[in-house]
Amino acid sequence: MMLGGLALPGSAQAAVPAAPALGFTAVDKSTDDYVHLPAGYTFSVLYALGDPINTTTPAWAGDGSETAESYNYRAGDHHDAIAFFGGDAASAQWDPARSDEGLLVMNHEALTTIYLHQNYDMNAAPRNGEQVLKEMNAHGVSVVKVKRNANGSMRVARGDKLNRRITAQTPMLMRGPVRGSRFAVTKYDPTGRKARGTVNNCAHGETPWGTYLACEENWAGYFGRGASDNAARSTADVTLLNRYGIGQGAGGRHKWHTVTDLPDTGERFSRWNASVTGTSSDGSDDYRNEANQFGWCVEIDPFKPVSTPRKRTALGRVAHEGAWFAPAVAGQPLVAYMGDDSRNEYVYKYVSDAVWDPADVNGGYAAGDKYLDKGTLYVAKFNNDGTGEWVALKYNSNGLNSSNALFPFTSQAAVLVATRLAADSVGATKMDRPEWGGVNPLNGEVYMTMTNNSQRNGQQNAANPRAYDADTGSYTTSQNGNVNGHVIRWRETGGDHTAMSFNWDIYVFASRAAYPANVNISALDASNDMSSPDGIWFDPRGLLWIQTDDGAYTQAVAGDSTATNCMMLVAVPGEVGDGAHYDVPTATGTVRTYVGAAPGSNLRRFLVGPKDCEITGVCMTPDHKTMFVNIQHPGEGGTLPPTLSNWPEKETNPSSTARPRSATIVIRRLDGGEIAVA
Ligand code: FEO
Ligand code: CA
Ligand code: CA
Repeated sequence: MMLGGLALPGSAQAAVPAAPALGFTAVDKSTDDYVHLPAGYTFSVLYALGDPINTTTPAWAGDGSETAESYNYRAGDHHDAIAFFGGDAASAQWDPARSDEGLLVMNHEALTTIYLHQNYDMNAAPRNGEQVLKEMNAHGVSVVKVKRNANGSMRVARGDKLNRRITAQTPMLMRGPVRGSRFAVTKYDPTGRKARGTVNNCAHGETPWGTYLACEENWAGYFGRGASDNAARSTADVTLLNRYGIGQGAGGRHKWHTVTDLPDTGERFSRWNASVTGTSSDGSDDYRNEANQFGWCVEIDPFKPVSTPRKRTALGRVAHEGAWFAPAVAGQPLVAYMGDDSRNEYVYKYVSDAVWDPADVNGGYAAGDKYLDKGTLYVAKFNNDGTGEWVALKYNSNGLNSSNALFPFTSQAAVLVATRLAADSVGATKMDRPEWGGVNPLNGEVYMTMTNNSQRNGQQNAANPRAYDADTGSYTTSQNGNVNGHVIRWRETGGDHTAMSFNWDIYVFASRAAYPANVNISALDASNDMSSPDGIWFDPRGLLWIQTDDGAYTQAVAGDSTATNCMMLVAVPGEVGDGAHYDVPTATGTVRTYVGAAPGSNLRRFLVGPKDCEITGVCMTPDHKTMFVNIQHPGEGGTLPPTLSNWPEKETNPSSTARPRSATIVIRRLDGGEIAVA
């Protein structure tokens, strides 16, 4: 196996295959309302908000008149992570070599409510029940069959038997150590084994056996909690709720629990109220524990359309961005890397107890039960000398026991429900908002984006060293934290993903090209400067795709008149240790970090999106000729009638006044060649 022979930093024996060179001219930054690609490329819109997946649901009307019920059969909102699983109807299983037909699986993270409804009133309380149901059904996951057209583009096969929508109401199973624990008890299932729905699915994981993990990110904001609820709860439960951001008096982002104009069948609305409302001692007569059923990685077998998704609690409970597997090696445990996307949260990895058996490919949920229900969760410490270590979050280890000062860890279920408190307790390194990760298929190095952090001031460390002024890029005037973010990477000791230590450096510091050199440490220029890296993905050739979700480079600042919509870039990355140390200024001195070689022309802008969007989610067919990219929430900050963005209709009708829609686009080369290379 290649990782066994991996060269250590500074060693002369590096013998891993090289990624192919980039073969296109970088795209300029843009602030208009169109998608921009390099010369020689084209795209089409494949699957936009409201598009039907069956043959009986009417086309998207474009005026908010679509029913709540219809969103069980329409594309949800805010397309995010996306994966392609090749396969056809006859076999109904994953064929990793298949490019012409397969399933696209994608998350619908959140909502642009103003464009989803007619007469939307964000301040209404109680909320309109039909609108709330539509919002629940516009969340979750889409599974859609796609087939390649003669010209290399793709179409959705409406009515395919594998097409499916999973929503905030879909029945699910709790699995792993939290299943059946006191934390999972609700009126819906007093035995703590059943859950309902998934929300705020951001990034994802693709398991080695061919299933999809939809990861629950900012789920905490969906819950309301009473103004005097603390008095009804234990100190431990209040600590837990507060650490995850569900404070006493929380209103709930969409106030789903306030509906009174429709029957509350099965407490479909009131379950979003995480207050003690019953008289039981264990929560079996209310939804005080409902929030404990969120914050997980949710396994979905896309080839089993009537199956029940499974929440894999052994992977921990955080604001999960996603879960990225190291290459599976027969006879070795499986390893997945994860991040908790909030300011000053942590990086994690999961190591399975079971060792990989390639016969489990297409093993569905049974394989998931085998590899994802029993294993060890670790949290990362990034030391200031460029080394790092993994600390196990295991009941009765590392002080995670019932007498812990932060939280009573009375079981592994308690450790997992309170993952953040466990990580606090062992002194993990607080990071600049971990977003997506990826494992370089050529050398096993792990990359993870740290998108930005407005709360870094005064606590810089080697792995999160920048806190500077957003206007000037100065370290001496007002500090706005890590304004533009960075991408960190690490190499596990011996190239072994189960290792307990690693070496890290920072692949790239995102920055405006115009910022001073001590902010623009990676020397980005007009062809590759960026801000707030979020999505990243290694394609099978070893090219690293980087997507941005940015609010810092989207407008001019005092020292720089340039601005740009969000974008996607692609890189031939180097390797850990190919750069040097760098002393970053702070308000009182410097902090030493380790930065990779400046990427130069090995990093190029490939795509710029329309106004007020985020670029997130990217995958390719195995022949590298068809790429899928999600354009999330164009015109998000707009009004009705829409004036800020009319994408995607604008692409074919420049005078469009249509509502903007999140959408999947399909990118291909006009000459039919492989994407991004010569
Ligand atoms: Fe949903 Fe962390 O972005
Ligand atoms: Ca993200
Ligand atoms: Ca983000």
